[in-house]
Amino acid sequence: MKIRLTDRSFLKLLDFSPEEIRYLLDLAHCLKEEKRQGKTKNRFKGKSLAMIFEKRSTRTRCAFETAFAEEGGHPVFLSTDDIQLGAKESVEDTARVLGRMFDAIQFRGFRQDHVELLASASGVPVYNGLTDEFHPTQILADFMTMEEVFGRLKGLKVVFVGDTRNNVAKSMMIGCSKMGVDFTALGPQELAPDSEIVELCRKEAEKNGCRICVTDNIDEALNGADVVYTDVWASMGEESESAAREKLLSPFQVNDELMEKTGKTESIFLHCLPAVKGKEVTESVIEGPRSYVWDEAENRKHTIKAVMVATLT
Ligand code: CP
Ligand code: NVA
Repeated sequence: MKIRLTDRSFLKLLDFSPEEIRYLLDLAHCLKEEKRQGKTKNRFKGKSLAMIFEKRSTRTRCAFETAFAEEGGHPVFLSTDDIQLGAKESVEDTARVLGRMFDAIQFRGFRQDHVELLASASGVPVYNGLTDEFHPTQILADFMTMEEVFGRLKGLKVVFVGDTRNNVAKSMMIGCSKMGVDFTALGPQELAPDSEIVELCRKEAEKNGCRICVTDNIDEALNGADVVYTDVWASMGEESESAAREKLLSPFQVNDELMEKTGKTESIFLHCLPAVKGKEVTESVIEGPRSYVWDEAENRKHTIKAVMVATLT
């Protein structure tokens, strides 16, 4: 099947078929190797990328900025402390102006409907660098890392532990359902993902030969897991919830004892980062031999470059 993603936006994984996700991952592996050999190709020469940030970022910003620049493009960082968006100007008007000046737009912020509106009003590809709802580019990097470790995705089992209704957890559930990966959301019932998205993923999983589970049973969930994944207990914008979250989520801390419950010596630990060591994960797990978080962080760049190469060239 010939895959063509030119001019598409990357807003959520629900918009992409398993074949399209496969294409992006294959491209990312090639681009990583190409970079390692020092053979980048000036693919974005003469192009510019607007990068809007309503929330902080280290990995996503640096991945977009360096990936775009090392292929000859000009990335422009736009913090919402500086531009009119959110103060004097609507999302739609900002989109129409940026669409006249830039070849693509990256948006990290609060509302998913804003990133969707940016895409429909700007007329150029828009990339979701994280919203309250979804973090789709993160999952590409996670999958790439899993493929580097296990040589495959299909048939693996991922357990996301903690705040299972957050942007990363939901995106991982969608991604797994598309790529034939068993997914378990392990956390307190109060923080379980909405049944609507779970049902949607279950239908997708059925087509692709995998299972989606939601549970608060630690032993059952972890048994046979290949990947144990966690994220912060309070996401950006939820800082006032921190104390309540700590109470709810402490039993779900990823520590050595919890990792042992996979029953597999080869199971690995992933975290999108930034991590609060001593809260959602112990120092000993994140710094231990099962942790691939630094490869995972590096892979943000290669996968984000793949998204831009696929949609802009
Ligand atoms: N994982 C991730 O998105 O990191 P940043 O918040 O640093 O971009
Ligand atoms: N769930 C986290 C992810 C950070 C990359 C947040 O939204 O803050």
